[in-house]
Amino acid sequence: MRIGILGTGNLAEALGGCWVRAGHRVTVAGRSADRAAALADRLGGAARAAAPRRAVYDADAVLLAVPWGGIDDMLRDAGAVHGSLAGVTVIDPINAVEHGVGVLLTEPGASTADRIAATAPGSRVVKGFHMVPSTQWGVSGPGPTTVPLCGDDPAALAVAETLVRDTGAVPAVVGGLSRARQLDEAAGLFISLAFAGVDPRTVLPTLPPVHS
Ligand SMILES: NC(=O)c1ccc[n+]([C@@H]2O[C@H](COP(=O)([O-])OP(=O)(O)OC[C@H]3O[C@@H](n4cnc5c(N)ncnc54)[C@H](OP(=O)(O)O)[C@@H]3O)[C@@H](O)[C@H]2O)c1
Repeated sequence: MRIGILGTGNLAEALGGCWVRAGHRVTVAGRSADRAAALADRLGGAARAAAPRRAVYDADAVLLAVPWGGIDDMLRDAGAVHGSLAGVTVIDPINAVEHGVGVLLTEPGASTADRIAATAPGSRVVKGFHMVPSTQWGVSGPGPTTVPLCGDDPAALAVAETLVRDTGAVPAVVGGLSRARQLDEAAGLFISLAFAGVDPRTVLPTLPPVHS
């Protein structure tokens, strides 16, 4: 796939590395052309750097790897309001939470994905990749990591599922984009527990999978 990554920080590097190793053509872009070029060098393989609008051109998938406060700026730079992301799978890994507290910063009832969908007309937004710390992508642990995803477009979900598998994790589609707020909240809870010194895994009940 041709993957555009908007953002040149920790998550961009971690997921970009997995996807380059899986053989995808990754183009990274940020508000600093120098940081984008440096990241493309570190990623190696077929990775390259470009301006945001160029990075999303003809992309099969775009990862929006910026903070909550950077969504509007980055989508503007990528030309989203002019339709550059129409028909494109846009992956939203954003945790809009108060640092160290975990309280959501989105409007009541709204999600980060809602904001992206409203700012990037025609885009096929998939929420996901937000529960795993950047240091753990591509690192094999005691068992598989499950990555919850939600979105309204089946083709976009299929793209995101492939990209999850290409990291070595396992995708789990939980429903449409109306579930994105729930995924935002789940991450907020885990973040607040972690900052309170509690391993979030210890609050999870043992529930055997139910197959209907
Ligand atoms: N890191 C993780 O473990 C992790 C895990 C799950 C989800 N996430 C989510 O992934 C997103 C990225 O996290 P990260 O850890 O990669 O952050 P990061 O290392 O701080 O990188 C953030 C990137 O966003 C850019 N940026 C910030 N404000 C911007 C703006 N107003 N306009 C355009 N670009 C802007 C930064 O550019 P500059 O370099 O120019 O500042 C940088 O390239 C966040 O929403 C975070 O909640 C991260």
